Amino acid sequence: MPSTEEIRVWDPFVRVFHWSLVVLFAIAYLTGDEESRLHIWIGYAILALLAARIVWGFVGTRHARFRDFVFPPRVILGYALAMVTMRARRYLGHNPLGGAMVVTLLVCLSLTGITGYLLLPGEASSPDQIAAATLAPIAMARANGRDEHNRDDDGLLKELHEALADLTVILVLLHIAGVLASSLVHRENLVRSMITGRKRAGPD
Ligand code: HEM
Ligand code: HEM
Repeated sequence: MPSTEEIRVWDPFVRVFHWSLVVLFAIAYLTGDEESRLHIWIGYAILALLAARIVWGFVGTRHARFRDFVFPPRVILGYALAMVTMRARRYLGHNPLGGAMVVTLLVCLSLTGITGYLLLPGEASSPDQIAAATLAPIAMARANGRDEHNRDDDGLLKELHEALADLTVILVLLHIAGVLASSLVHRENLVRSMITGRKRAGPD
């Protein structure tokens, strides 16, 4: 008989991190097209969250640590094969494939944020100057008949920033598919666990 006892797996930090990231990522993605101060503030918030999560990956609770969910490629591949044949074993923390996706998401989000930061004109690194630096130079460049945004050589960087953001969206869709597949295979609601922090105890 499956156990009905529940144990705590995801600590409050991981849960707040996750759902804040979901909301902030959606806003960042939707505000990227405009010259938006909101986009930059949200982008900084995402970078701050990522930095905190990376530190937590070394000092946090058991299942939040990288050590708990970073596996060698052989194990990840084996798990992927087992998943296809519905024989994947259950993990209390992230499974090897899920863990690989978490790391990929963290890397892609960081690269998206960093390329976004590099897109800003030099003087915009201080938050106080964001408004002036993002809006005024663009207007000035346009008034002077220069190419868009006072960032003539940044076209490629902007493309890269956008491509990374799009790649992250694809990864998120795969991530959600993985969460649903895993929930079905092991007959548990992983989305609920990411809200309550609790999971069914039992074979790990
Ligand atoms: C990590 C989450 C982020 C996501 C998902 C994201 C997404 C996007 C997207 C989709 C675009 C539109 C690109 C285009 O249409 O060409 C964009 C543009 C831009 N982003 Fe981000 N971004 C993020 C973080 C940041 C950060 C941290 C900054 C700066 C600190 C930033 C600054 C910019 C700038 C300056 C543009 C160009 C706006 C323009 O010139 O039209 N982004 N971003
Ligand atoms: C509404 C859509 C989403 C759902 C339902 C969802 C669900 C989940 C669940 C259930 C987990 C835990 C997986 C496990 O048990 O091993 C998880 C982890 C994670 N998800 Fe999502 N997710 C969503 C959207 C996103 C988005 C948009 C991002 C990033 C932009 C994201 C990034 C992550 C990360 C980084 C983790 C690892 C959490 C940690 O260990 O700190 N998720 N997600």
